[in-house]
Amino acid sequence: MLMRRVGFLLALLCLAGGPVRALPTDPCLEPGSDCTLRELADLAGVRIGAATQPALIQGDPTYAEILPREFGSLTPENQMKWVALRPDRDTYRFGPADELVAFAEANGMRVRGHTLLWSDPIRIPDWVSAIDDPVELQGVLDEHIDTVGRRYAGRVDAWDVVNEPLEIFGPPVLRDNVYLDLLGPDYIAQAFHAARAADPGAVLFLNETQVTSRAKFDALYALVTDLLAQGVPIDAVGLQGHYLTGFNEPAPGFLQEMVQAFADLGLLVELTELDMPVTPLTPDRLEAQARSLGRVMSECLAVEACQGITFWGFTDRYTWIDSFLAPGLIPLPFDVDYQKKPAWFAAADALRARAVGEPALLGLAAILGLGCARRRA
Ligand code: XIL
Repeated sequence: MLMRRVGFLLALLCLAGGPVRALPTDPCLEPGSDCTLRELADLAGVRIGAATQPALIQGDPTYAEILPREFGSLTPENQMKWVALRPDRDTYRFGPADELVAFAEANGMRVRGHTLLWSDPIRIPDWVSAIDDPVELQGVLDEHIDTVGRRYAGRVDAWDVVNEPLEIFGPPVLRDNVYLDLLGPDYIAQAFHAARAADPGAVLFLNETQVTSRAKFDALYALVTDLLAQGVPIDAVGLQGHYLTGFNEPAPGFLQEMVQAFADLGLLVELTELDMPVTPLTPDRLEAQARSLGRVMSECLAVEACQGITFWGFTDRYTWIDSFLAPGLIPLPFDVDYQKKPAWFAAADALRARAVGEPALLGLAAILGLGCARRRA
């Protein structure tokens, strides 16, 4: 009886187009096909994205042509941050963010909104950090999230509501900033409530960086479970993915374990800011980078709840790593001349594997002889 129920459920999943994706007969899934990452991601049922800036789209036709061809999702790299949108209390400057949203719409791309609240104290505008009255600060925060959320409601698919709430490398506790000082830890829950009210349709993310150690993961997991227990409307966890190739990558298996843990809480997961700089001292650096990037992507995509991967840029020609760490660390899948690097091919392979792979539930179906592929044949 139980087996028949399981079989019925699986049949429904198959008929509904369920978790099974493309059959391996699709030409894009042939190894070596010249399909784009966007095509492969569509076959895999996930989003592949890139962070971008209006000046690059306007100033470089090759860049502007490759971006929407290869990527189905777009994140404004800086233009939706407080410092850009709202240089002072009375001025909203929506122009550059609007341009990016319009570009995405013209090209059928999803937009990830980034970000309504960045906890990094050096990224909080001075005029906000200078507020010393809790009621005033909460009012400014609520008003900001309401204004920005409503403006882009229905045009932005997802919001990084709170970005980097935990200390980056120090003890894994909440970051010390004006919000924590004046409002206490509850500022995070309030931000999610405000975001849900402003844009009820957006997928709401908590986005965190450098989740590579057990201690940091435990702190993030505790934060998220606590928010869920309070009924806070959090839908998804973003893991940024600025990993230095061969140095601060999550240990093999650890990323998948983390993604699965969030999935088990009923949350979606995305790698939201993937770039993997590699030092010139690393032997066979392009291949080393490709192996690491392919592994990281595969570990996320192995879990059904991993719904998207966004690179922080896409070409080594324009990357924040050049100024943030050092020039020449080539973190992205296209080189400075827009040639595909080994990392691009590793990314394509990871997407192909997801497209033909069968997730755990259907693994059970295969054992029972009920696989969807056979059903459709
Ligand atoms: C970075 C941008 O890429 C830079 O251009 C800017 O000067 C600083 O911010 N984590 C984040 C992103 O959430 O917003 C950051 O983007 C990179 C780290």
